Amino acid sequence: MKIACIAGARPNFMKVAPIIEAMRSYPELHPVLVHTGQHYDDAMSKVFFEDLALPDPDIYLGVGSDTQARQTAKVMVELETWVLQAKPDYVLVVGDVNSTLAASLVASKLRVRLGHVEAGLRSFDRDMPEEINRLVTDTLADDLFTSCADAEPNLAREGVDPKRIHFVGNVMIDSLVRHRAKASASDVVERLGVSARGYTLVTLHRPSNVDEPEVFKGILSALGQLSDIKPVLFPVHPRTRKRIGEFGLEGLMTSHPNLRLIEPVRYLEFLRLMDQAALLFTDSGGIQEETTFLGVPCITVRHNTERPITITEGTNELVGTDPGRLVEAGKRALSGSWKKGKIPALWDGKSGQRIAAILDDFRKGTA
Ligand code: UD1
Repeated sequence: MKIACIAGARPNFMKVAPIIEAMRSYPELHPVLVHTGQHYDDAMSKVFFEDLALPDPDIYLGVGSDTQARQTAKVMVELETWVLQAKPDYVLVVGDVNSTLAASLVASKLRVRLGHVEAGLRSFDRDMPEEINRLVTDTLADDLFTSCADAEPNLAREGVDPKRIHFVGNVMIDSLVRHRAKASASDVVERLGVSARGYTLVTLHRPSNVDEPEVFKGILSALGQLSDIKPVLFPVHPRTRKRIGEFGLEGLMTSHPNLRLIEPVRYLEFLRLMDQAALLFTDSGGIQEETTFLGVPCITVRHNTERPITITEGTNELVGTDPGRLVEAGKRALSGSWKKGKIPALWDGKSGQRIAAILDDFRKGTA
């Protein structure tokens, strides 16, 4: 059974890696790794392949950055050509990026069986392109692999047959579990001149936060204030770096020398930095989950989340973008007054194995 595993953007790589690895235990499953090229800088792609010990992609579509429609369309055009020629038996997509949506459309129109890993997450906010990607992908998918208990009720509400839903747990946590010990050998914390639990780690890249000058300025000013308590490390996504230049926000960093902008960080080093941080301050989806697993306080700089289990069971708090509220929550976390949380069900490092076993059952025709 030839299974095309589609990855395109940074957060996809740690999701496909454990699935491909688990498939190796099934001689009849033949994964083919297709990299769409949605992310292409070495710092956003190549170093993740190295750290995750992912094989080089079998196919590279090289689509690059563009508008929502053009990027999605480019992946569709390139992938359709490849699917017609390579004839995979199954297409497996992960997450909610534009490459996920594009591959789902191609597979379902060519009537190739489609599985979606991380199905059923909903923010109920269509201002985020990812929400539209999730809705369409789940509508088209034949098999829906879910990561947490929140997902099934969302899918049930949309009329998905429960027989097609497989609760397998969180593949991103598989990668974390697998690489945490290796990451602990990294000297990144010392190299950056900070100490365990002695810093805040930041990621920001959502268009709603960084494309709006007033919102972005407010968030940065909150970070400036928090950096007076403990240093703030801010690895900057390329989109965010551009906006800082365009909006002329470099001055804010000069007046807060402990608010330190650094280059994007590779997987193992970022894992180490998360593991040792006093606080994560982020608008990422995956980091809400990773901090819940690690038991590190997480402030989510958004008004909604598709991952509510990280709030109800984990260490995440949805704070929004108001600078005053961000500073208040940050001070609370940095003073140690934060909820403890627990690890959600099936976030145990074995989700890739569950998916591979189910795919092998499909192959045998028993599921
Ligand atoms: C994409 C995903 C988002 C995910 C994020 C992780 C969609 C709709 N969004 O957002 O869900 O959380 O990836 O990073 O799929 N750029 C580079 N080099 C690269 C990649 C991008 O410089 O290797 C720059 C380009 O200027 C590009 C911009 O970053 O226009 C945004 O990239 P894009 O892939 O469109 O979206 P992300 O913001 O990265």
